[in-house]
Amino acid sequence: MSRSPLLPATVITGASSGIGEAIARRLATEEKQTLVLVARRTEKLDALATELQQKHGLRVYVISLDLEKPGAARELLQAVALCGLSIDTLINNAGFGLNDAFSEMPLDRIQAMMQLNMITLTELCHAVLPGMHEHRHGRILNVASILGFQSCPRFAVYAATKSFVLSFTEALAREERRHGIHVTAVCPGSTRTSFHDVAGNTGTVSGKIMNSPDMVAASALRALRRGNAVIVPGLFNKPLPFLLRFVPRSLGVFAASLLVYRTRNA
Ligand SMILES: NC(=O)c1ccc[n+]([C@@H]2O[C@H](COP(=O)([O-])OP(=O)(O)OC[C@H]3O[C@@H](n4cnc5c(N)ncnc54)[C@H](OP(=O)(O)O)[C@@H]3O)[C@@H](O)[C@H]2O)c1
Repeated sequence: MSRSPLLPATVITGASSGIGEAIARRLATEEKQTLVLVARRTEKLDALATELQQKHGLRVYVISLDLEKPGAARELLQAVALCGLSIDTLINNAGFGLNDAFSEMPLDRIQAMMQLNMITLTELCHAVLPGMHEHRHGRILNVASILGFQSCPRFAVYAATKSFVLSFTEALAREERRHGIHVTAVCPGSTRTSFHDVAGNTGTVSGKIMNSPDMVAASALRALRRGNAVIVPGLFNKPLPFLLRFVPRSLGVFAASLLVYRTRNA
């Protein structure tokens, strides 16, 4: 008995808010492919799925999953396969940061951040690539950060996880070119999302200068379609990685710290 072929789909992690939601909205308008929305807040995902289905006539699936849990990547892939889908585009966007002194952060939150921002992301990339090789087609967008270029006091672990994402993605993009697969790291600067409330990054300079999540989404998807390995959205942020090469590392760390310490009257 022949099995029916799996339908190609785009999986977006962290689609319940912010940049992930903005990417889902853009993909629904611009590409019309089946979408799979993943995060923990089911009601938010359901509401977005219903809206996109009604507006664009797409199939949109919702998978509620805690991606901080070891083994979550495997669970996600099993759930996608059960829906009769294969992953043609993977948007690894779910992530969080914490603005605090490293010594004062609870160890379990540090471990969860590393698991979500790095391990789950890496496991998902590893799992989807064989299928993409087979089709000689596929796309992976990994959401890093401008802090991937610069270590940052109070975001010590977060910035290191994003450095990992940036370095890993840049290398993967080069490896995968010969297979016809586009891999992109998007490195947003401060963006207007709930990231800052979750991170406790309110009352800081970086919590005030903000890009819109839709601008970040548009820029990321443009780069992914073009096959650019790295994109820094926003006119102000774009030159920063280049300029940082000419600044002593200690000065970079000091400048970063000014952006994330709380102002006195915050
Ligand atoms: N906003 C910024 O300034 C900024 C700058 C640079 C990079 N980034 C990166 O952009 C990405 C998206 O963040 P955002 O700014 O859009 O913030 P956000 O609005 O807080 O969105 C974070 C998304 O990740 C999901 N998520 C968090 N923990 C999860 C978990 N354990 N399991 C499954 N999903 C989880 C959240 O969904 P649930 O809570 O429903 O699970 C939410 O959909 C992150 O990787 C972040 O590091 C943000």
